[in-house]
Amino acid sequence: MTSYQRWTLCTEHTSYTVRLSPDGPWAELDAWGPRGVEEGPSALDWSRRTHFVTPVDAAPAEYLPYGLRPFTESELVVARPGRERGVWWDFAGAEEGEGSLRLAFTDDVLSLRTVLCYETVPGTDVILRWTELTSMEELRLERLDSAAVNIPVAGPARLTYLAGQWSQEFQRHQLDLARGTFTMGSLQGAPGHAYAPWLAVQDGDAEAAYGIALEWPGNWHITAEAEPGGTVRVRAGRVPHEGAVVLAPGKTLTTPRLACAFSPEGLDGLSRVWHRYERHLTGERIHRPRRVLYNSWEATGFDVDAAGQLELAKVAADIGAELFVVDDGWFTGRADDTGGLGDWYPDPAAFPQGFGPFVEAIRALGLDFGLWVEPEAVSPTSRLYAEHPEWVYRIDGRPTRLIRNQLLLDLGRTDVQDFVIGTLDRLLTEHAVSYLKWDMNRPPTERGRPAAGPAERLDLDAEHVAGYLRVLDHLRSAHPHVMVEGCAGGGGRIEHATLARTDVVWPSDNTAPLDRLSIQYGFLHAHAPHVMSSWVTDAPGIFDTRPRSLAFRFVNAMCGVLGIGADLRAWTSEQRAEASRWITRYKEVREVIHQGDVQLLGTPKDPTFGVQYDDPKAGRTVVAALSTGHLDGAPLVPGRPARLRLRGLTTEARYRDAVSGSTYSGAHLLHYGLPFAWRIDHDAELVVLIRQ
Ligand code: DGJ
Repeated sequence: MTSYQRWTLCTEHTSYTVRLSPDGPWAELDAWGPRGVEEGPSALDWSRRTHFVTPVDAAPAEYLPYGLRPFTESELVVARPGRERGVWWDFAGAEEGEGSLRLAFTDDVLSLRTVLCYETVPGTDVILRWTELTSMEELRLERLDSAAVNIPVAGPARLTYLAGQWSQEFQRHQLDLARGTFTMGSLQGAPGHAYAPWLAVQDGDAEAAYGIALEWPGNWHITAEAEPGGTVRVRAGRVPHEGAVVLAPGKTLTTPRLACAFSPEGLDGLSRVWHRYERHLTGERIHRPRRVLYNSWEATGFDVDAAGQLELAKVAADIGAELFVVDDGWFTGRADDTGGLGDWYPDPAAFPQGFGPFVEAIRALGLDFGLWVEPEAVSPTSRLYAEHPEWVYRIDGRPTRLIRNQLLLDLGRTDVQDFVIGTLDRLLTEHAVSYLKWDMNRPPTERGRPAAGPAERLDLDAEHVAGYLRVLDHLRSAHPHVMVEGCAGGGGRIEHATLARTDVVWPSDNTAPLDRLSIQYGFLHAHAPHVMSSWVTDAPGIFDTRPRSLAFRFVNAMCGVLGIGADLRAWTSEQRAEASRWITRYKEVREVIHQGDVQLLGTPKDPTFGVQYDDPKAGRTVVAALSTGHLDGAPLVPGRPARLRLRGLTTEARYRDAVSGSTYSGAHLLHYGLPFAWRIDHDAELVVLIRQ
């Protein structure tokens, strides 16, 4: 048996082994899976017979440049002005640390040093990978992926991805890729609504699931290629707006991080790995209870005034909300979506007694106060635009198009970042604002920065990302008490860099019950419940119009961070009383929901769908059970209750329903499941089980 230079990184339950290839100067995957998986011949090993390709084209390589790998796609494409494209490098050494590894490769002709970086994340089964590039001469990086991952497969690879559109984000899709390429991404300067930067790969029907997620709130791609020799190779990285990035002499470019996860327990187990990772990203702030919010957007739209908002706030406080957020429409010039953006001053006509007294009146109701902003946006009719037309993206000699009647500020400019920071500092210090909803409703179109020199030397996408993250970091350090909600016309900008700097995100503008269920089902595959903001509203369905009860809307919204967005003024006293009961129940269990282990029970296509949250230490299990509307006619015909089989409980233990007092053995709950006798007017329940 040949001996290779190998390095193994260990996470809680997994190991990831990289080796230096016996065939040439590159690193390749030896094994990735449950701990110990590297003991045995590599499942990625191959015959080394190649026809019409080079050995490196067939290798399960971790990262390769075009040049060295000529035919089968590479992660790095480098050009020198007037010279051939391509990199041919040699191995230049490894540095191993506690949970980290750095493998260096150098191309002396280009004086390019490429370092493949690995880092395990304590307490999770996630390994972070990224690449650092340094050169002594100026180079153009036409492709600069973060990493490639290799997964051996016996047949077609099962790919699971989250795709959609505005108002229908995070729909779970699957395809079996036998040969060829599957690619997804965004050129919208944000992850976008069309695809989440997240992918899961399985070997056909096999349970074990591999996942990747790219930490980059700008342009991106994830590309999976099923190769002939029984592997699927996935490449992922940012996509520069200018087509290439100039690597300046002596400077190091660091790519975004690619988080790589593994679970032997299928997609459901993989989701728990991602949830734990996102709790890690949240850090200590996980222990801050996410307060039950009321948001006025669906009730009042742009029609915001003190009297109307206070009327809503009184009912919200009565039913148990803890935070009142005034959405779009509170600032000057914002009668509709044609004006106002950029001029972040409260509209005196809407708040005749002053904004300060209005905020205090809300707080006097016992509610925290929150505010909506869209800091990157500017209306062409605003004062800001009149004063700083040079702050928006534009291309000389080209018309600037409007989307939602607005333009986008070039947040890559330091002066724009300083303006945004100054504006937010002013709003957050002048008034007792403890919650900020950061929205973004238009991607960049004519993306240029006139007067900044040759366009091909710019890296506008990365600069915008850096500006966005700088402002978010500032919010965290200067206003640590402020909770931040990330939003981009719904779920248009949700990825790990945003999640590390916000407290919750808004997955979609679609709050209709069955539509939302399907969005949340996909969302929970990739993201944790403590970041999933969800409102109870009056919205009818867009894609699935079947009516659902108020209970359904509550239980559905309680699957994440509960909020209310309905026009409470129109609610009857019975509806308000029911809402109050649900909010009380939610407050009792939100800690389990936000910090527990999640099991997705079935799919929203099943007649009964559920989400189970376990806090094994406290012996508490919360089950959100939802009837999706396929009734069997009971009790008109002999019908038995629907059953929702739970998972992960202890067979021998006994569990008591905290409300009904019924007790069940673990075996019963795992084998038969919890019973639900759904009726047309009873389509959701929240069950709390206490382990005896
Ligand atoms: C889009 C957001 O997703 C909505 O929740 C709302 O804030 C509107 N923008 C306001 O313009």
